[in-house]
Amino acid sequence: MNVAKQEIVATSVPQTRTESLRESLGGNYVGAGSAQDVLKVLSTGFLEPFTLVNVIRGEIVHADSESLSCDLSGRMELLAEVARRGAPEIVEDVAPLSMLAIPLHPMGLSQKLIAVGVFIQEPVTSEHQIAAAARAFGVDAGRALRWSHGREYWPPRLLLRMAESIVENLVQHKQITHLRHEINEAVAHARDTYVELGLLHRLTSRLNFSGDVTELWQSALAWLADSVPAQSVALVINQSLEDEKPRFLSDDHEHVLIHGECPAEKSAVRELVKKLGPASHKQSIVLNRAETSLPTWYCPTLRELVCVPINGGDQPLGWLLALNHKGSTNIEFEQFGSVEIRLLASVGTILGIHSRNLELYQKQSELFASLVRALTSAIDAKDRYTSGHSERVATVSVALARQLGLDKKAQDTIYLGGLLHDVGKIGIDDLVLNKPDRLSEEEFEHIKLHPQFGYDILRGVRQLDKILPIVLHHHEAWNGKGYPHGLVGSENPLLARIVAVADAFDAMSSDRPYRKGMPDEKLDAILRDGAGSQWDAKVIDAFFEIRDEIRALSAAEPAGYSFEGALG
Ligand SMILES: [Fe+2]
Ligand SMILES: [Fe+2]
Repeated sequence: MNVAKQEIVATSVPQTRTESLRESLGGNYVGAGSAQDVLKVLSTGFLEPFTLVNVIRGEIVHADSESLSCDLSGRMELLAEVARRGAPEIVEDVAPLSMLAIPLHPMGLSQKLIAVGVFIQEPVTSEHQIAAAARAFGVDAGRALRWSHGREYWPPRLLLRMAESIVENLVQHKQITHLRHEINEAVAHARDTYVELGLLHRLTSRLNFSGDVTELWQSALAWLADSVPAQSVALVINQSLEDEKPRFLSDDHEHVLIHGECPAEKSAVRELVKKLGPASHKQSIVLNRAETSLPTWYCPTLRELVCVPINGGDQPLGWLLALNHKGSTNIEFEQFGSVEIRLLASVGTILGIHSRNLELYQKQSELFASLVRALTSAIDAKDRYTSGHSERVATVSVALARQLGLDKKAQDTIYLGGLLHDVGKIGIDDLVLNKPDRLSEEEFEHIKLHPQFGYDILRGVRQLDKILPIVLHHHEAWNGKGYPHGLVGSENPLLARIVAVADAFDAMSSDRPYRKGMPDEKLDAILRDGAGSQWDAKVIDAFFEIRDEIRALSAAEPAGYSFEGALG
């Protein structure tokens, strides 16, 4: 082999090497995740291609045509040992050639993989020298010579330091990539949580027991539509709840509520829940194109969907659905996933709990109303001359309260107070209460105890706290000559002053066995005379403003009244 000496002398270490390495490490790490990426970084850094070896299987995974293809078959055990030790090593050193092995395990890759590169470690001085080294490396001497032309040389110490530096940088890059990924995930999670919390905050701030439940559900759907990338969101009521239908659902309640542009008819949406079967009663279900593109799918316009049950007790009250992903086109298939499930499930949980509370509240309210009516019947039964008195006083009091501009809550309270104002008569002697003749002074004093008795009977019932002043003070007079406390003017609470007028009106207008109800003119005169002395003049004014209405109300059958506000 006759090769001129100057032709076989390798160049010195180039200035460009540092820049080349910096370029390969400084910001071009985006793809450095696979073994191929690592090979690329190494090749750019060393300006020399590396061979990728699987040391367990003893095979070359990747080799570059530019590299000096050495025979590695006899070195597999050695390479496996380097892989196990986990740091770059020079595994062969026969001047002027060196063989560098770099395990890929520290970069998060397989422990089986190792990158191997062959380098010139010093200027080649003779053909003989490189031929001897080529033999040791198991490569043809002529090929080694041709390969060495124009190649840079790497002194072994520099080679190793360079390898260690690149590995360290790759490891750091791996960690940075991992951290960046974690940060991105945390940001996405925080964003999703923020959306979820905002949605739940809006929803929970609207939960109450007196509003229309359908309105609440429609609002919940509208807010969900703001947060979920769906063409449409829907709420389907469980129609199999016939036996246990919640009280707050009327018979004509809509069974499918929809917000947005629904990709299917309402009937198809209702059918969807049936198609999903019993599994949808217990858990959330997500279907995407993989399922809905099958020929057996019943509604091709429904492409992506999430369905979560609204837990209502033994059976779901209904289901919340997100239908068709907004970003989905025929080319790009966007999918629903865990974020949408979580949002729907959170809203479903709140609506489920609220509906169960609503149901309990309504049951409690009905029980409360039954107890109050039972008590009212007991009062009226006790005083056989004044049947229906409690209900009429309650109804007239509400009319007066409304006329005086009091709000619905006060009207509810005064209705309840009117019903129970004479509850203390339960403690009055029957013979005195039902005496047809004029009462003696002593008997009258006994009757005058009934407001205090009533107060004592009811004061343990928290829900009736607000009506206690009515019960205790409905016989006070504006001039302070009433009982039991002789309160003067506005010392007596307004609601008690109103009931006092309604009570007197009913007592005077009702028929008694020993006398007919008082003629209207006489009754009006008594009320006018008593304005500002017996009764609050303002309430008497209100009475005369709606006198005809009050007379009609008093004569009519009781219309029934809701206790809702009085319970709150
Ligand atoms: Fe009374
Ligand atoms: Fe009364």
